Parts: sequence; structure tokens; C-alpha cells
Amino acid sequence: MITWDGELLHEIAQALLQYYAAKSRQLPWRETTDPYKIWVSEVMLQQTRVETVIPYFKRFITRFPDIHSLSQATDDEVVKYWEGLGYYSRVRRLHEAVREVDETYGGSVPSEFTSFRLLPGVGDYTAGAVLSIAYGKDTVAVDGNAMRVFSRVYCVNEDVASANAKRIVTKMVQEILPPGYAGQFNQAVMDLGATICTRSRPKCESCPIHAMCCANVSATQDRYPVKKPKKATPTLFYHAFLIHNDDRILVRQRPKKGLLGRMWELPNLPCEGTSIVDEESIYHDAMMAFSIKIDRPVVYLGEYEHAFSHVKWHMQLHEICVSSDECASDCRFVSPNERSSMTFGTIFNRMMQEFISF
Ligand code: ADE
Repeated sequence: MITWDGELLHEIAQALLQYYAAKSRQLPWRETTDPYKIWVSEVMLQQTRVETVIPYFKRFITRFPDIHSLSQATDDEVVKYWEGLGYYSRVRRLHEAVREVDETYGGSVPSEFTSFRLLPGVGDYTAGAVLSIAYGKDTVAVDGNAMRVFSRVYCVNEDVASANAKRIVTKMVQEILPPGYAGQFNQAVMDLGATICTRSRPKCESCPIHAMCCANVSATQDRYPVKKPKKATPTLFYHAFLIHNDDRILVRQRPKKGLLGRMWELPNLPCEGTSIVDEESIYHDAMMAFSIKIDRPVVYLGEYEHAFSHVKWHMQLHEICVSSDECASDCRFVSPNERSSMTFGTIFNRMMQEFISF
């Protein structure tokens, strides 16, 4: 039985700070105190693993080393530097926010929680993380890692995805947070969650706070965090088309709002499922939808899937050769050179990499 008194909370904080001092991971965004760079890293790290982020972070910061350079860049170029990281609305809102910082705050990232939190795309977590790490403010940063760690430390019996669990954990973290050391404390929790207090098979024997962890002491680690079964993500089915006239392929820009907004795609049509493909009707549908003149048979190339957080795409890819650049007004034929400066969703890049040699 663990008693959560002030002394124990202090002990947890001290153990985490010692752990951070001795074992913190060396990461490129930890080599700076520049709030802009730390902000970029935190936005990249939302939903994306540290190992994936590192090369993107380095490339992004080399091209956009400060608020002004990012603020002045075009949307297309900024998105291009994010290509492959996914969740593109993150970078669009970061770009918008950085422009606001350039114009309203003279290029200095605001150090007050309320001002920073009001910028596009900045939530409680990002504001808490950036202000504690860059400015040494006493702000908590409760992300998925912190939720997992503290659901175990306190045996929180609420669905970890619920607002209630978030409220409980945030309050607990606020009580533990050691004044003056919030940046190190928050990053210690991030490291602990990523390397020791992992989703499956936590390495409790190496954990600096295992003696103070309710789940470890009661050997119930596998019950926490509590997860209510999620509804299966729906699958949307499409026929996608690699339509080419010599080395030019037909592309289409996605609508501004919604998934992969304003990015480019191979033209596609929704369909019911993966039933046997009737090439004759595909031929007809593609001709009508994209206003193209098809002069050779349609060839089936294969199927592709991509899972987003809330929906899965299943696409059957077909190849069509045409000999005229005539097409619908929302589509256009582009050369390999033009194509290389456009940003496509991952599933379309995979299709093009596999089948286009030019
Ligand atoms: N995950 C989110 N923010 C992080 C950070 N600053 N360091 C390591 N992992 C993180």
C-alpha cells in the first residue's frame, strides 16, 4: 500500500530528476535552448517516434533555422520538408503560428502560457513542454507517455483516453512538478515512457520510481493504462489510377479542407469494396470522371493500404495509357520535374515509386 503524501511526491520528483541527469537521451533538440527549435521538435514529436523525427528535424532546422525564415517560406516548400511525417495539418498550423509570432511578437516566441497557447495548433501539451524546456517555466506537459507512466504510478482506474483520466493525471503531475526544474522533469517522464515504462513489457526493474509505483508494487502493470476497447477504424475503398501520356502523369490536388488537404494525389474514385475488378467498367468510369481519352486497355497493378488515425484507405491501382493531355479541369498532366516539387500522400508516393521509372 502506498500513501501519497507530500514527502513521497517529492521523492518521485527527485528520483526522476536524478534519472534525467544520469540517463537522459542525447537528442538534437536538447542541444539548444532556442524556443523556436524546441517548438518545432515538439510539433514533430506529436504522433511520431523520436527515431523518425531526428532526420526530419535536422533537415527542417537547416532550411528554416529561425522564425523569420519559416515565416517567409511558401506553404508548398514548408509542407515539402514535412513530407513523410504525416499529419500535415500540424505543419500548416505551425507555419501559421510562426507567421503570427513574426508579425505580432517581433519574431520572439511568447514566454507567457496564455499568449503562446492562443497560437494556432498550440495545445496545453505543446505550450507546457515548450515553455518548461525553453524558458524554464513551471508548466506541466501531459502527453500519451505521461498518461501511461502516471496511470501506472497511481493505478488510475479510468479509461486513459477519457477527459477524466487526463484531468486526474494532470492534477497529479501538477502536484509532483518540482518548481524550477519542470523542463528536466517533463523530459525525464518522456524518456521514462519511451524506454522503460513502455506500452508492453515495461522494464520495471530498471525504473527509478518502481518502489513508488502502485502498478509495480501491486504487480498490475498489465492492467494500466486502462483502455476501453476502441471501435474498429472504418476502411474506405477506392480505385486509383496511374494515367500517363509518355512521361507525364495525371495528378489532382485534394480539397483544401480534410485529410491531406491541398496535397497532390493520383486520381481516384470511391468504390464499394474489393470485389473482382471489372476492367470494362473501370475503363468507362475513369474516362468519364477524368475526361480522358483512353487508347489502350486498362491494366490492374495491385492493391495498397494506408492507415490514418481514424480511417484506413484501401486502393486498387490501375494503369492507363493515353496519347492526349486532355483532362478534367481539376486534374493536370505533370512532367517528372514538376512532380518532384509536389507533395503527395505516402500511399501515392509508394505507388509512383513502384511503377514509375521516369
Ligand atoms: N516526445 C515529446 N517531446 C519529447 C522531447 N522533448 N524529447 C523526447 N521525446 C519527446
